Amino acid sequence: SCECKIGPSILAADLSMLGTECQRLMECGADYLHLDVMDGHFVPNITFGHPVVKCLRPKVPGVFFDMHMMVAKPEQWVEGMTDAGANQFTFHVEATDDVIGCIRKIKEAGMKVGLGVKPGTPVSALVPYIELIDMALVMTVEPGFGGQKFMSDMMPKVQYLRQRYQDLDIEVDGGVGPSNIDVVAEAGANMIVSGTAVTGSDEPRAVINRLKQSVEE
Ligand code: DX5
Ligand code: ZN
Repeated sequence: SCECKIGPSILAADLSMLGTECQRLMECGADYLHLDVMDGHFVPNITFGHPVVKCLRPKVPGVFFDMHMMVAKPEQWVEGMTDAGANQFTFHVEATDDVIGCIRKIKEAGMKVGLGVKPGTPVSALVPYIELIDMALVMTVEPGFGGQKFMSDMMPKVQYLRQRYQDLDIEVDGGVGPSNIDVVAEAGANMIVSGTAVTGSDEPRAVINRLKQSVEE
């Protein structure tokens, strides 16, 4: 059992109705929202940026926005995201030569800091920064697209972090749904992203309930 939070990813939702979709996910029991920002450089896909987040903010006041910044030069977007009302800025250790500078900038802007690794990056790449961050993100798919297969061989990364850092928030993102959330929670993740499994379902409430039940047992 764990105190896991479920953060749906809206990547596979109807983005033409982002506000309505986010409201619906919160009504269905989501704990926070995981918003996937892609720039076509860090990943081979494009989604949206801070102008969209700024419009979304008043539609779901008070909801925690975890911005998953799949972008090159993440430091470039810190100011825009804090102005837009983002709560946490999660960027990739692979994306910048100045990880510490970016962490500082995010903190000075008043946001929480998340730092992520792609599947091919060892978890040791996060270790020098753990004391400076609020959350570690372990990707269980190659970032860029929703609906991919969960990579269970990433779980040792989660276990490694949880064994050493009891108080760290650890997020897992990619291919998570009712069939594998127990594996993710068991490894030690406490912030769990689920995209397609939730938004692709006719019954998102039932799926979120099932996700929560599986980790409460
Ligand atoms: C992948 C994104 C994830 C993903 C989640 O690049 O960061 O947030 O879309 O969606 P599913 O659960 O469908 O993998
Ligand atoms: Zn994501």
